Amino acid sequence: MDTPRVGSLFDRVAGDYEAVWDSEFGTINDDLHALLELRPGQRLLDVACGHGGPLISMARQAGASKRVVGVDLSARMIDEARAKATRVAAELHIEFIHADMEHFTQDPMNLRAFDVVTLRFGLAYMPAAEGVQNVAKLVAPGGQLGIITSTWRSLWQVSTVAQEAARDLGMMLPPQVHQVPRDESDLRARLTTAGLTPLKVVPKTLTLLRDSGAECVQFLRDSGYVIHPEVEAMPEAMKDLAQAELGRRMDERYKRPDGKTPLDFDLLLAVARA
Ligand SMILES: C[S@@+](CC[C@H](N)C(=O)[O-])C[C@H]1O[C@@H](n2cnc3c(N)ncnc32)[C@H](O)[C@@H]1O
Repeated sequence: MDTPRVGSLFDRVAGDYEAVWDSEFGTINDDLHALLELRPGQRLLDVACGHGGPLISMARQAGASKRVVGVDLSARMIDEARAKATRVAAELHIEFIHADMEHFTQDPMNLRAFDVVTLRFGLAYMPAAEGVQNVAKLVAPGGQLGIITSTWRSLWQVSTVAQEAARDLGMMLPPQVHQVPRDESDLRARLTTAGLTPLKVVPKTLTLLRDSGAECVQFLRDSGYVIHPEVEAMPEAMKDLAQAELGRRMDERYKRPDGKTPLDFDLLLAVARA
């Protein structure tokens, strides 16, 4: 993906990201931490760390760590993360670094330097072939990589109506973002190709409920969630029109008897050893 555009996308949503995203997905981080072997004295790294909340909670769970680092492409996310850590977790001495993960992994100082590396909801923004391989380079021998990712099936409701709308307009819309793994076996294969041994891969579906389809799409816009890069690249006024149309079609197709419109996030949690 186009990294400057991804960085500015997350700069735009950084201020409200924690409130928008963690209200729905906060607990999934605890699920990942329960799968990892966290203990005092480890060197911890969260790649694409966003506002830093998940890293703070991982470091707390591990106990006194040797080094705790968060890296993110968005300068505003890093500002948010530093401010939050100063406010609520100064004792953890977390280093937040503003960097593109790809450049970070080219620095020999960081190679194989961490006992636990996590990447949460980051694969969608990285090239499919290299995403897992890049983070794998950072894990020390015997250390663990933890991943949370969506799969191709995530958000099938929006993707289906987006494809239908495009077809009705005589347009071709490529399939949704495919940097994320197709399914469990694809993620296992990516971990193995990266030289890691998959220990656990756990599927999980989270259903987000909103009062309307348009509100579902608004959630995706507010959290920087990219389904189709072509839609993401539209000017804001066109996105407003697309949101109204997709929302209308979602309500028509998927609204439940209780009046709620659902969005399914088909997720995988994985832990692998280096
Ligand atoms: C969906 S957010 C997830 C944030 C956080 N991991 C969480 O779970 O709350 C994706 C994050 O990946 C970051 N990101 C995307 N591409 C990146 C790259 N090449 N290097 C570092 N960070 C990246 C974005 O800036 C954004 O903060």
